[in-house]
Amino acid sequence: TYVIAQPCVDIKDRACLTECPVDCIYEGVRTLYINPDECVDCHACEPVCPVEAIFQEDELPQHWEHYRTVDEEFFDGGSAQRCDPREASGDHPLVAALPPQQV
Ligand code: F3S
Ligand code: F3S
Repeated sequence: TYVIAQPCVDIKDRACLTECPVDCIYEGVRTLYINPDECVDCHACEPVCPVEAIFQEDELPQHWEHYRTVDEEFFDGGSAQRCDPREASGDHPLVAALPPQQV
């Protein structure tokens, strides 16, 4: 799967949304999330992100490796941390706790 990491937070360019052929990218309040169960690894999203927030899961920079878990947990129906991706009413707790990213 592909993963959206921290550069998307508070930017949300949304270029990736229109590229994804299977509509597996969902919008939270401060960032977007790729559903790992729906992503077909088509790679279309990665080059269009202007802030290079999207990575193949095995190519995540070490300091952003936890974003793989962030995406998994965001869509994990059994998780206490779940936010409904279709409601866009929240973020994963790790994202929600970040200080404002825009300078
Ligand atoms: Fe975010 Fe980049 Fe998509 S900033 S919304 S991952 S195009
Ligand atoms: Fe969609 Fe990107 Fe996966 S375009 S299918 S989220 S690699």
